[in-house]
Amino acid sequence: MGGDAVEVKGQGRVLVFETPEELAPAVADRIAALTQQANGAQGRARIALAGGSTPKPAYALLAEPPRRDAIRWADLEVFWGDERCVRPDHPMSNYRMAHEVLLSRVPIPPEQVHRMRGELANPAEAAGAYEETLRTAFGLKAGELPRFDLVLLGLGPDGHTASLFPGTAAIQEKTRWVVGHWVQKLLANRLTLTPPVLNAARHVLFMVSGATKAELVREVLEGAADPNRLPAQIIKPTDGSVEWLLDRAAASSLRRPR
Ligand code: 6PG
Repeated sequence: MGGDAVEVKGQGRVLVFETPEELAPAVADRIAALTQQANGAQGRARIALAGGSTPKPAYALLAEPPRRDAIRWADLEVFWGDERCVRPDHPMSNYRMAHEVLLSRVPIPPEQVHRMRGELANPAEAAGAYEETLRTAFGLKAGELPRFDLVLLGLGPDGHTASLFPGTAAIQEKTRWVVGHWVQKLLANRLTLTPPVLNAARHVLFMVSGATKAELVREVLEGAADPNRLPAQIIKPTDGSVEWLLDRAAASSLRRPR
C-alpha cells in the first residue's frame, strides 16, 4: 500500500502518502482489504461511511476495477457514521455523495444500504429509527452493541469527527447509539453515531488531507487530551484498531519519529 509509517505513541498506525492522489487509492485498498477480512471472518461485512469531501475519490475508486471486482458486494452492508438533516437527494447529503460516486455503480443489494433518514423533521425520531435499523441489521440481542467491521471517519477543520462537534454533549454520550442534535456553529441539525458505537468497531480508519488540517492533526495525535475541544480524540476503540491515513500536507506538523 506504500506510505511512510509514522509512529505516534498510543495513536494506532499513522500512514503518510505524498499526495491526495496517492491517499485516495490507499484508502480504497484498505476498505477493500478490511471488507474481505470481515467476509472471511464472519461472512457479512458491515461498514460505516464518512461524509464530507475527502473520502469521495476513494469511494469512486471502489466502483472501478480492480477494487470493484475484489469486493463481495452481496455480503457487504453499508451504513453511515453521520448525516446532515436534509433530504437524501440534497447536495449536502452524505448518502447522496456515496450513492452518486459508488453505490449506484456497484451491485450491492439496495436493502443492504442503510441511510440515516435526515429528511425527518424530528432529528430525535431519525436517530431512534437508525438505532432500530442497527439493531435489526446486526441481529442484536438486548444489551449488545453494533460492532462495525470498519468505521471510516474524517476530521473537520474544528476537530469534529462524524458529527461529534466541539462542545456538544454527544461527545460524552454513553448510552444512545445515535443522536440527532442541533449544532450551533452550523445552525443546523445533524445525526451521528456516538462514541459507544464508534468505539465498538473492529477497525476505525481516519482519512485526512490538506495543509489546513495539519495543526489539527498534530493536536489530536500529539497534543494534550481534550476531547471536548477535539472530539476526534474520543475515538479509542475498546477492542479494535485505529489507523490514520494522511497525505503529506495533513501530516506536515507531526513530529517525525526520532
Ligand atoms: C460530515 C462528515 C464529517 C467530515 C469532516 C471532514 O458529515 O461532514 O462526516 O465528519 O468527515 O467534516 O470533512 P472533509 O473531508 O470535507 O474535510
